Amino acid sequence: MSASKKAAGRRAADLVETGQKVGLGTGSTVFFTLERLGERIRDEGLEIAGVPTAVDTETKAGELGIPLTTLDEIERLDVTIDGADEIDGAFAMIKGGGGALLREKGVASGSDHVVIIVGPDKVVETLGTTFDLPVEVAPFARATVDRAIRRLGGQPRLRDREGAAYRTDNGNEILDVHFAAGIDDPPAMELALDAIPGVVESGLFIDLARTLVIGHDDGTADVRSAAGS
Ligand code: A5P
Repeated sequence: MSASKKAAGRRAADLVETGQKVGLGTGSTVFFTLERLGERIRDEGLEIAGVPTAVDTETKAGELGIPLTTLDEIERLDVTIDGADEIDGAFAMIKGGGGALLREKGVASGSDHVVIIVGPDKVVETLGTTFDLPVEVAPFARATVDRAIRRLGGQPRLRDREGAAYRTDNGNEILDVHFAAGIDDPPAMELALDAIPGVVESGLFIDLARTLVIGHDDGTADVRSAAGS
């Protein structure tokens, strides 16, 4: 499992070119990208500026010697490299397992190119069949959002950490939403969720990924492009 993540993460880091502004995603697969970028900075003199999508990523990138900047300081990112919890054949994704969906979507939307790095287990036919959909909600609106999501056919569960409601880096809560038969129309579901007052962001990422790197346990990685790219 971690060999496939390592293969995907390192391969994506090798796609980065000097001078680029790079969105740095969240999670254990991205960790291998950070590690490889740190090596390339040290060994090849690669010059990049990274924008982290989570406090954890910011800390790790800093430790690995990756120069960082913010979306306040630059207009666009050349590329973002991030993991996913599920990705389908149209490169629609569920993200947010690590709770960083809002920043991840902001950084991905501000990027000219988004590269997603996964092991083969994350590639699914129908989103929502192996992973519940994270939805970030303003805490005061949790009950009304919960009821609205049930009307859309989902079963929300408040994410907790050590007995208390989990809080994102932005101070919000997460509802992990189970869809018994998966999500048959992800773009429509994203619009429906976004229309609920109190929803800050959903973990559905539609039409953002352009390149998919699938790592394998033997250390190889396949690089695929989105249809029409
Ligand atoms: C974080 O909020 C998620 O979107 C991550 O990108 C996702 O959970 C992937 O994590 P791993 O690389 O640890 O599997």
